[in-house]
Amino acid sequence: MSLNMIPIIIIFVGLLLASSSCSYSTPNNTSYYKTPTPTSPSLSHDSPSPYHFPLLKKGKKKPPPPPQPIVTPFEYLKIVQTWPTTFCKVNKCINPPPTTWFTIHGLWPSNYSDPQPRLCTKEKIDWSTFSSLVSMTDLRKYWPRLDTAVRNDDLFFWSEQWDNHGTCSSMHPPDFFNLAFKIYHKKELKTILQNEGIIPGGIKPETSQKIFDTIETGIGGFKPQIECLRVQNKDYLYQIKLCLDKTGDKYKDCPGPLIKCPMDVYFP
Ligand SMILES: *[C@@H]1O[C@H](CO)[C@@H](O)[C@H](O)[C@H]1NC(C)=O
Ligand SMILES: *[C@@H]1O[C@H](CO)[C@@H](O)[C@H](O)[C@H]1NC(C)=O
Ligand SMILES: *[C@@H]1O[C@H](CO)[C@@H](O)[C@H](O)[C@H]1NC(C)=O
Repeated sequence: MSLNMIPIIIIFVGLLLASSSCSYSTPNNTSYYKTPTPTSPSLSHDSPSPYHFPLLKKGKKKPPPPPQPIVTPFEYLKIVQTWPTTFCKVNKCINPPPTTWFTIHGLWPSNYSDPQPRLCTKEKIDWSTFSSLVSMTDLRKYWPRLDTAVRNDDLFFWSEQWDNHGTCSSMHPPDFFNLAFKIYHKKELKTILQNEGIIPGGIKPETSQKIFDTIETGIGGFKPQIECLRVQNKDYLYQIKLCLDKTGDKYKDCPGPLIKCPMDVYFP
């Protein structure tokens, strides 16, 4: 090799290096931006470690710990369901309310003695991702704001339920709402009542004890809370509350008072 070729080789190698570093930093390659973030669990397993000490290797490549779980203590969960026809006797419901299913009022992390947990964290619902994580169809159908004409007002109802109660669940919004639906769909209250001949629209009153007993039996022998509303000297079945353990897996007896209704009530 002649000496005067050396500068040429150096220049050539220099160009190679320059071009390769250019292509590496090209912003066009979208998969470059999507290279695993530190939270990706596969990163620490796939990448070879320059260290021979297993302990050091683990410590060096471990992804940062997941965000601290939120801890907002409570003792049990309560799902509150509303009979829309009764609700609409005392509230202005501009949208026709559903007449064949109870709607969700809320899922309330609760304590056996007051004060009840409320407004536990400042976390807000992130609407930009919410609708891809929670079924909006279920929300509109089973968790509607009943006293409104404007569909968008539902967002305020869901936000209000999240702020007041959901933030106390030790969950993030999507998990909280999905748990509420999981609990709601476990047992259909209207079907439970109907199977015992307690049918909405009846012109004869039922005893509140029979309604209570029917729900209690229908969810496997656990005490619910039932609540009525008095409108023009008649009492109507208004809300049914079921209590569950903190994970929402198992029903539990609700604490008293269990029946906030007079003896005879209508199921409109
Ligand atoms: C980025 O890459 C895509 C496909 O690989 C190509 O169509 C596009 O023109 C590139 N854009 C730029 C700015 O290089
Ligand atoms: C984009 O970059 C990744 C990682 O840097 C690489 O594996 C992939 O082949 C590149 N894709 C293109 C189209 O250049
Ligand atoms: C609810 O109960 C839990 C556990 O007993 C307790 O730590 C928490 O402070 C209570 N919440 C309120 C608002 O009193």
